[in-house]
Amino acid sequence: MSTALTRLAAALAPLALAGALAAQGPSLDFEFFKTRVQPILLLKRPGHARCYVCHSTGTTFRIERLSAGATSWNDEQSRRNFDSVKRLVVPGDPLASRLLTHPLTPEAGGDPFHSGGKHWDSQSNPEWQTLADWVRGKKAAAK
Ligand code: HEC
Repeated sequence: MSTALTRLAAALAPLALAGALAAQGPSLDFEFFKTRVQPILLLKRPGHARCYVCHSTGTTFRIERLSAGATSWNDEQSRRNFDSVKRLVVPGDPLASRLLTHPLTPEAGGDPFHSGGKHWDSQSNPEWQTLADWVRGKKAAAK
């Protein structure tokens, strides 16, 4: 390699590293997911089935079945849900996250179609905002 090229490569290496770190985005908080995001997946909205009903059975995006009699997931199940849901978001970028765009109407910035329906018609919907907070790396309040 010529000296000029070697120097160029050396100059660019830190930039590549910074780019990789930025692409990674903020880290997703498990406690926030467990206590704030999961209840949204269980919530019944008028005119819609719960996310849980479809996504704990047939679909590729899969969350855990609740244990008999339980109204929420235990820690181990929540961890598995976290791993599953995390694949559908881009940390730091709610509008690049399918978890947020799939159930959002196209008029409000969502994508064109979700077989499970459009559950939110505005980005200012409090549930949508909570999901967005999680994607932006918001932490659960310290206990
Ligand atoms: C009536 C059943 C049903 C309900 C209720 C439902 N979904 Fe879905 N969802 C589907 C099906 C079927 C697919 C796969 C086909 C598609 O993408 O439309 C899907 C796809 C998705 C995807 C894309 C997964 C991927 O791998 O690309 C996301 C994200 C999603 N749903 C989130 C949600 C959220 C969040 C809720 C609740 C607000 C919800 N869904 C409610 C049926 C449902």
